[in-house]
Amino acid sequence: MANEKNEWGSNISFLLAMIGSAVGLGNIWRFPYVLYSNGGGAFMLPYFAALIILGLPLMLSEWNLGRYGGKYGHGTLGPMVYLQAREGAKPKTALILGAIAGGLAFAVTLLVNSYYNHLIGWTLGFAVSSFTGAYMDQSQSTADFFVGYIQDPKMVFTFWIIALLGLSFAVMRGVEKGIEAWAKVMMPVLYVFGIVLAIRSLTIGSPVNPEWSSLKGLNFIWNPDFSTLTWRSALAAAGQIFFTLSIGIGAMLIFGSYMEKDQRLFGEAVNITVLDTVVALMAGFIIIPACFAYGIEPGAGPSLIFITIPNIFAQVAGGRVWGGLFFLFLSFAAFTTLVAVFENIISFDMDLFGWSRKKSTLVSLILIIILSMPCVMGFNVLAGFTPLGEGSTIMDLEDFIVSNNLLPLGSLGYVLFCTKKNGWGWNSFLEEINQGEGWKFPAGIKGYMSYGLPLLIIIIYLKGYYDKFQPMGTKTLIG
Ligand code: ALA
Repeated sequence: MANEKNEWGSNISFLLAMIGSAVGLGNIWRFPYVLYSNGGGAFMLPYFAALIILGLPLMLSEWNLGRYGGKYGHGTLGPMVYLQAREGAKPKTALILGAIAGGLAFAVTLLVNSYYNHLIGWTLGFAVSSFTGAYMDQSQSTADFFVGYIQDPKMVFTFWIIALLGLSFAVMRGVEKGIEAWAKVMMPVLYVFGIVLAIRSLTIGSPVNPEWSSLKGLNFIWNPDFSTLTWRSALAAAGQIFFTLSIGIGAMLIFGSYMEKDQRLFGEAVNITVLDTVVALMAGFIIIPACFAYGIEPGAGPSLIFITIPNIFAQVAGGRVWGGLFFLFLSFAAFTTLVAVFENIISFDMDLFGWSRKKSTLVSLILIIILSMPCVMGFNVLAGFTPLGEGSTIMDLEDFIVSNNLLPLGSLGYVLFCTKKNGWGWNSFLEEINQGEGWKFPAGIKGYMSYGLPLLIIIIYLKGYYDKFQPMGTKTLIG
């Protein structure tokens, strides 16, 4: 068990760290193109619905379990094993089940880290390349620049290692001096950058055609055409909610485990989901209007961020500064997300082996470097390996395993564990979640939480597979 006292310094810094964990590449990279390709403003309807019926209850299940289990241990393994062993009817079976659940959750955090940390490296590399104007030289396209970047070991390794060292430094200093201190600086800066960039984007006049002003992009977001809504949009909204709130991978659980019990969780969860959505909308206001002004299709997949958007910065006045700010905005978002995942990994070692925070961080760092190698090599020496079909990479495979499998299945595990008698059980769940001041969790939704929600996750999971593998269904991260 963790051998140190580690708690949030204040409620506001805890909130910033939680928002930091939720706000990430999913908000800035993924949301705008999911929004665009699912009908623009109309997509917000299934998005808000999914936030309420999926996001909030799932986030609260994981978070509540973390807060309760914090007295036994902080890592994902801690609450599961100890809760079941001490309070379950059959300690031996419970220990085995707990170890499987905890081990799986640990594997998930390792897998997420092994590709997400590269993306932080890329965003940092692109921030520097923007400030230096490296991709603004018209002698090569931004697509060629991006391909050159990810195949250049010097660039990729340098920024990747900087990202890893920054993350290690943040978690090694502990919850209050590390994670919280970084979140207190990065999150307010992120919101300010977001507002400034959105204003800039909304005031771009089109150099291509006066009718394509960025305000047309705004119109596309604010004037929803509900006839474009389909079941596919609803599923896209559900998938986005899992990703954007980081549910199912223990990130919520670990932060909850350091929480005091003076506030009820329901109100706090509403705050986090609202502030997470604000960043997603800000990203929409930055990316979609700029693309409209330049007559570019914003729904062209995730290459949008590293190819399409840089192409706009290369043309707009002051593009070096705007590009630099944009990629810093992105890297802060990704960094504060991965800190939670990293904290989970080191807590696992501290809980299980009784290691110090420093030793756990160093061992985890080495482990993460080794496990991240396939992803790095997927863009160069292993580029011929296309696990999900033509053009796909090892990163795509890892993202598929996490986004399409582990996030929904992890959430399913948490919600079942919280509501079923053989796990924690509904009454204990309710008692814990209502500790402190603030809004009470609606006790009347027991049936929905125990049966409706698990069923919904299973349907989303299966339909996600069907969509992914039906002809033309495979989407890759790069391209
Ligand atoms: N919630 C994180 C993101 O949006 C995973 O990127």
